[in-house]
Amino acid sequence: MPKANTLTRLASALTYPLRLDDFLAVIDPRHSSRQLRAVVTKVTPAAPGVATLTLRPGRGWLPHMAGQWMRVGVDVGGVRQWRPFTISSPEGEAPSITVGAAGDVSTKLVNDTRPGDVVFIDQPEGDFLLPAPLTTPLLLVAGGTGATPMYALISTLLARLPDADVVLLQASRTPQDAIFAAEFAALASRHEGLKVIHWHSRESGRLKLAASIDTLVPDWRDRAAYVCGPTSLIADAEAFWSDAGLPLTVERFTIPRIVDPDAVGGTVTFARAGQTLDAPGASSLLEVGERAGIELPSGCRMGICRTCLKTLKDGQVRDLVTGSLTGEPGEHIRTCVSAAAGDVTLDA
Ligand code: FES
Repeated sequence: MPKANTLTRLASALTYPLRLDDFLAVIDPRHSSRQLRAVVTKVTPAAPGVATLTLRPGRGWLPHMAGQWMRVGVDVGGVRQWRPFTISSPEGEAPSITVGAAGDVSTKLVNDTRPGDVVFIDQPEGDFLLPAPLTTPLLLVAGGTGATPMYALISTLLARLPDADVVLLQASRTPQDAIFAAEFAALASRHEGLKVIHWHSRESGRLKLAASIDTLVPDWRDRAAYVCGPTSLIADAEAFWSDAGLPLTVERFTIPRIVDPDAVGGTVTFARAGQTLDAPGASSLLEVGERAGIELPSGCRMGICRTCLKTLKDGQVRDLVTGSLTGEPGEHIRTCVSAAAGDVTLDA
């Protein structure tokens, strides 16, 4: 009996110039052997300017673990743009992403996406996971959209260990901005071991852990600690737990760039795409290429996963996180955190 891929090749040959994929996509828009896609099944407001999109992925999707993230691609102005988003739904459920409208891609997802729309997706990734084996007590510190992985972690944990001892310290600007506040309250009403503490910065000022944690969570030293949120909250938490000599599990959405916004750039030539573009000194080569519609690989966009590696053919680049300069021809550079320092040519 011919194998499935043989049949696919045969059918594709008969349907040339369109691939079999293209016909199947008409029947089921999630179908593609080239790129995973998902249908948006629900769009739910989660807070002002924030929405949760529930997705039904096509065949080939590997179920996520609580705390992981996924890349989602949408076409903005005719250009395919990819961004990583935390998966906010618990394990075992359809993946959801909870997105704040900030930037082109997020704004399109929040404001212009409707049930039935199709988005491009990649497999779940990330290691902001529940402890294995499962142990409590836990302390989860969330700021802003940092509540999204916490919801996945807590709801998954309580489904497995209904008596788990968990404190969630959730910082938001106002009560209305506290993402998943109602869902956390509902969980706490059913699980005595979950305690939710809110901190509202408009009323109480920015959360400073060193000044407040002993009062808010007196037994914080005895809890495995997780943090996710804005850069300032993560920096504060890292310094605090480091001073205490205790481990901290961190999930970042962005990484601080130290490079001067007015740093001198140059041009970048994407040799394979045949395009030369102005490249400001504070913009990553990935951002410059994407803005021009060049499809480039990316993942975390923070210099961690190395999905965006490209070979430098010529010129020097500046690391946007450390400020250091490199420029060895043949060197693999992370385009998400590298900016032009003069004229640069990439094998891309
Ligand atoms: S996208 Fe992850 S290192 Fe560049």
